[in-house]
Amino acid sequence: MTAPRTQEQAVETLSPDQAAEELERLAKAIAHHDRLYHQDDAPEISDADYDALRARNDAIEARFPELVRPDSPSRRVGAAPGTGFAKVQHAVPMLSLSNAFDAEDIAEFLARIRRFLSLGDEPVELVAEPKIDGLSISLRYEAGRFVQGATRGDGTEGEDVSANLRTLKDLPKTLKGEAPGVLEVRGEVYMARPDFFQLNRDQEAAGAKVFANPRNAAAGSLRQLDSRITARRPLALFAYAMGEVSGNVGATHWDFLARLRDWGFPTNPLARLCTSLEEVLAFYDEILAKRPELPYDIDGIVYKVNRFDWQERLGFVSRAPRWATAHKFPAEQAQTRLERISISVGRTGALTPVAELAPVTVGGVVVSRATLHNEDEIARKDIREGDLVVVQRAGDVIPQVVEVVAEKGRKREAPYAFPEVCPVCESSAIREPGEAVRRCTGGLICPAQAVERLRHFVSRDAFDIEGLGDKHIRAFFEDGLLTSPADLFHLRARDEAAETKLQDRDGWGPTSAGKLFDAIESRRRIALDRLIYALGIRQVGQATAKLLARNYGTFEAWRAAMAESQDETGSAYADLVNIDQIGPLVAADIVAFVAEPHNQAILDALADELEIEAAAAPAASDSPVAGKTVVFTGTLTTMSRGEAKARAETLGAKVAGSVSKKTDYVVVGADAGSKARKAAELGVATLEEQEWLAMIGQDAP
Ligand code: IVH
Repeated sequence: MTAPRTQEQAVETLSPDQAAEELERLAKAIAHHDRLYHQDDAPEISDADYDALRARNDAIEARFPELVRPDSPSRRVGAAPGTGFAKVQHAVPMLSLSNAFDAEDIAEFLARIRRFLSLGDEPVELVAEPKIDGLSISLRYEAGRFVQGATRGDGTEGEDVSANLRTLKDLPKTLKGEAPGVLEVRGEVYMARPDFFQLNRDQEAAGAKVFANPRNAAAGSLRQLDSRITARRPLALFAYAMGEVSGNVGATHWDFLARLRDWGFPTNPLARLCTSLEEVLAFYDEILAKRPELPYDIDGIVYKVNRFDWQERLGFVSRAPRWATAHKFPAEQAQTRLERISISVGRTGALTPVAELAPVTVGGVVVSRATLHNEDEIARKDIREGDLVVVQRAGDVIPQVVEVVAEKGRKREAPYAFPEVCPVCESSAIREPGEAVRRCTGGLICPAQAVERLRHFVSRDAFDIEGLGDKHIRAFFEDGLLTSPADLFHLRARDEAAETKLQDRDGWGPTSAGKLFDAIESRRRIALDRLIYALGIRQVGQATAKLLARNYGTFEAWRAAMAESQDETGSAYADLVNIDQIGPLVAADIVAFVAEPHNQAILDALADELEIEAAAAPAASDSPVAGKTVVFTGTLTTMSRGEAKARAETLGAKVAGSVSKKTDYVVVGADAGSKARKAAELGVATLEEQEWLAMIGQDAP
């Protein structure tokens, strides 16, 4: 570390007041030099002097952690090694897009919008834009000034990369003209292809890491802890959406794009306003043909409903808006040799055949493994080891083997015999009638399943524990350190008591071990939906986990409801299937999971270690329908049933599919049948459509 200069007082002797004063001075000075360096390209001090300022700041903060300022330089560049970036909660979640692959999917996308909005023959305007293959970011402006920029992260929480974003030439630091007090702009950071090639040449010459594709290069450049490195990377930006906004930004997306340009943002010049299915499809073909000449990578076209009032009514399904979709370009293909077929065992015991390939570049990415789906697929395509095969890759999905290329005169291997025992634990692997998948019956004794469950538990959308890779999990499992999820939370204590420390193990050191323990500690507090998802219950993905969390509210309430499955009425199952969007098969899997004594032990152990946050209170808890269970039946006149359900859910109501004693209201439209009768029988309140609208404050015009 740099020695303090003579006029500086030793950190140990500073009083808190002196420390606070100096931290303020340092924050200003460092911000000033950052600006000179990044924005004006005119530094006034040497790198060594600059580093000394930061070191001094860090040393004072280390002694007075309670004095760390919100605008501290250490926060802005994530300075202290290992701490990474600060987390940012997105005021409005950053969503993903549903995918469409052909004209039929797009026709259905439009038809769904028409149904949902109950439109007659009114045209639906769509804005079509290239889907940029970069990484999405959120840019926050307050009073017209850039104050914070964050990565998407898991959509709810991203990383603060403000300092790095400031180095982008494309990013306006202050907005031109009038702008809302709070304005969050969303867009894509990308690297143009020629810049990417040049960067890789430079990296190679410097003996540094080369990137697989422009997307990875852009992501790697934006996630640098030292923003001076980002500043040297040729990153570019397109703005295309908004997050939190405090004022009016126009009535349509098309107008909004014009506003973005007025404020100083680059928007994609190819965007087009379309008024029919034919027009958007023609746009798609046109851009697909232009794709090779574009200086940046795109992987499809995004269609967005132009009118904001319609976007608002359409709302979202789980993590994607109903008002937009991504029309993907066809997958890229290549030929290569299938060297071997291996079998991987998943967390639910599914045996998945994997093609081990001679490495080949498919659309700019090197592929050496691809999925073969299941044994029927191998038989149907008659895929054998040693064959020449066509491999395809589309976007982020796992590459797949499409077909075998016939080779005249070449002697092929025997047809592939799918194993009937688990390759890991040697238990028999069984295919239930009607199922495509063969599963290992080893259950709890199968190490492959156990390791996969743990991997899932710590994965990004679950507990999101950084620094615990696959090979570490396997090693911990084999050494008996980590056999069940709750063991994670004992790792640190065990390590303190143990003779051989984690930091002495192969591939670990004091920093990485400390970081891992910190990462685990920081997850002791966890949202209920994440916990449920992390359990790895068959068929329970993020969307279902969210539904369960919202429906039961707390972990205790969920467990109590599930415990009822043990009695003969099986009310847990009835409870589950009554949740809108949870079907009988999923309900059966959930009940089977919680009935398993081993899983109950896991849940008990986790409950002891964790602070489980109740599911977020309904969006509008002051609505009279918040927390109420509502059933819609019959034909509604002012909106489609889909929109009615979505609206009720936005107001915090639970929408159920059938009437029971737990139902609060049944909303009856025209021609309502058995559900209305059942409501009368059970004495559940029924409402006419107009009464319902009045109740939610949406009287018909
Ligand atoms: S709109 C609510 N427009 O695609 C929808 N996204 O799969 C907000 N993307 O995370 C996204 N180009 O990173 C939108 N013109 C474009 C886009 C675009 C690329 C990315 C974005 C998003 C992902 C969704």
